[in-house]
Amino acid sequence: MQANLLEGKNAVVTGGAAGIGRAIAQAFAAEGAGVAICDLDYDGAKKAAEEIRSDGAIAKAYETDVSDWESVMQVAEKALEDFGVIDILVNNAGITRDNLIIRMSDEEWNDVLDVNLKGVFNFTKAFVPGMLRRRSGKIISIASVVGIMGNAGQANYAASKAGIIGFTKSLARELAPRRINVNAIAPGFIKTGMTEVLGEEQKSALSERIPLSRLGEPEDVARSALFLASELSDYITGQVLVVDGGMVM
Ligand SMILES: NC(=O)c1ccc[n+]([C@@H]2O[C@H](COP(=O)([O-])OP(=O)(O)OC[C@H]3O[C@@H](n4cnc5c(N)ncnc54)[C@H](O)[C@@H]3O)[C@@H](O)[C@H]2O)c1
Repeated sequence: MQANLLEGKNAVVTGGAAGIGRAIAQAFAAEGAGVAICDLDYDGAKKAAEEIRSDGAIAKAYETDVSDWESVMQVAEKALEDFGVIDILVNNAGITRDNLIIRMSDEEWNDVLDVNLKGVFNFTKAFVPGMLRRRSGKIISIASVVGIMGNAGQANYAASKAGIIGFTKSLARELAPRRINVNAIAPGFIKTGMTEVLGEEQKSALSERIPLSRLGEPEDVARSALFLASELSDYITGQVLVVDGGMVM
């Protein structure tokens, strides 16, 4: 086996300024990849890239709104100019706008679908042509266990994450002849800014529902992404890897 799993590869990570995306960018860089961190939060992305560079790896920050095709195209052009080739795409950027259906506004529905699902479409469309030409690539999208089992108050979020799963399976079939692997990860409850809003009581109630008795760390998801980005998973496509401490089985 190679010493570094991603030596000579370049990866794009959306939402890489914080939480799971940041941990994925760090894990990829630690295994030799050059990393393009694309985020709405440009300051956060710059900090994440600086941190990676201070460890001697290659990273660059880009300001992007994944839901906006124009912004995605501009960033894709720049990233391809800077890195030459993008081998790995991680669609990670995501938001929540929770509400019960009777109170859910058009805006709450549209915002979540635009970022979580259209964002995946936009970035995939921007980077797939290069992968098709080279007949190789890895696309990993971060779904959620909520897209599999549902969650009261998250109809918009669950729909977007279930959409990612259908998108992943369709694209896996479409791109397999060109040796592009397309997979999703469905994290359970992971300790990030997104779950910070939960109170201690809610967190301990959640832990009781998790066979491994703890919330996940961003690094737990990052290690799975590393596996799916590396040649260790070359014979795996169209799958949803559930990383949730055993909550859904
Ligand atoms: N934390 C969890 O428990 C959990 C569980 C399952 C799935 N997920 C998914 O994992 C992914 C990462 O979540 P996280 O917990 O790290 O969240 P987070 O809020 O800590 O980080 C999300 C990042 O995405 C960026 N972002 C938001 N909107 C964007 C946009 N329009 N364009 C570009 N970047 C944008 C944010 O600036 C932020 O840096 C999301 O897709 C989320 O749905 C998280």
